[in-house]
Formats: sequence, structure tokens, C-alpha cells
Amino acid sequence: MIATPPDFNADFFRSALGRFATGVTIITTETDDHRPVGLTISSFNSVSLEPPMVLWSLSKAASSLRHFVHAQRYVIHVLAAPQLHLAKRFAYGPQAGRFSDLALARAPGGTLMLDDPECAAWFECHNITQHEAGDHLVFIGQVERCHRNFGQPLVYHAGDFDLTPSTEPLSND
Ligand SMILES: Cc1cc2nc3c(=O)[nH]c(=O)nc-3n(C[C@H](O)[C@H](O)[C@H](O)COP(=O)(O)O)c2cc1C
Repeated sequence: MIATPPDFNADFFRSALGRFATGVTIITTETDDHRPVGLTISSFNSVSLEPPMVLWSLSKAASSLRHFVHAQRYVIHVLAAPQLHLAKRFAYGPQAGRFSDLALARAPGGTLMLDDPECAAWFECHNITQHEAGDHLVFIGQVERCHRNFGQPLVYHAGDFDLTPSTEPLSND
């Protein structure tokens, strides 16, 4: 069956999608000649617990597309509120300068990642499949290693970063 054509325009669609509050991640990998590549992504979500799988989607217009298509692994960093400046840098700054002055590390499987203890969590993923979906590619990653912290998460909502501090203390479990 063929879907009914939309009765809304792209701006309205984007605005409606923006009502869904998300966290914010930075996803990193490296080029064939070992240069770091990364960008800000909010389309991250969980898929499967057993085996552990996650997804995210990347615009076909992204300059990093080919590097993520060819990467064996990538690391998804879930950002904490104090990392707002990194979210902006990895979304709006040129790819070439995104990693300058940042400490880098290797995840246990060898994948290039940010060495930043403020990250709320990180997931080292095996790049198992990609599905074409309109103007994006949906990446499915199988999580090989992960780590989590208990800081305040960075939240994105209605086209902007949500900086309202939570009044509730975060639980430790
Ligand atoms: C909060 C936020 C979330 C974003 N999420 C996505 C996303 O899920 N997928 C995507 O393709 N771009 C997303 N972007 C846009 C990319 O971060 C941005 O276009 C980036 O410059 C692409 O880098 P590249 O062209 O060097 O690959 C997001 C931007 C922001 C500010």
C-alpha cells in the first residue's frame, strides 16, 4: 500500500517532531587515515536489550556520512548539561576544528572517543547495519561496551537546548 501524501509542510513537521524532548549525543569514529570524525546527534534511541542494540539516523548530506558508513565501530557519548558547548561545537562548528583542544581516548574495542568524564554515558558500538530512509541513513549499532554516570543530562526540545535545571535529585541506580 502507498502512503497518503503529507498535508503539512517540512517546517510544520519539524516543529511537531520538536515536541518530543530528547537527550543529546556526540558520535565519534575516525577516517581511514585516522583523523577523528564526530557530530552532534539527537536521533539516538534504544532498540534491543538482548542482544544490546541502539539506533541513530544521519543525514545523507552530512560531511561525515562516508566515514560512518565505512567505520567498523563508533562511540555514542550521551552528553551531560555542562557539555552544552560541545553539543554546539559538534553541530555548528566546522568538522576540522571540532576536536581541537579536546582530550581523546580509545574505548576498550579501540574506537576513538572523547576523554571526558562529564559524559552521562557512552556506548561503543559495532556498526552492524544501515537502512536507507528518505534523506537519512538509519544506523543500527550493537553495543559492545558501555559506561554511565549520574550527572544532569543535556536535553533538546522544541528546537533548542533545554537548560531548566531539574529540582529532583538524580537517583544512583
Ligand atoms: C541538538 C542537535 C541534534 C542533531 N541531531 C542530528 C541527527 O540526529 N541526525 C543528523 O543527521 N544531524 C543532526 N544534527 C545536525 C548535525 O549535528 C550537523 O548537521 C553537523 O554539522 C553535521 O556534521 P557533518 O556535516 O560534519 O557530518 C543535530 C544538531 C543538533 C544541534
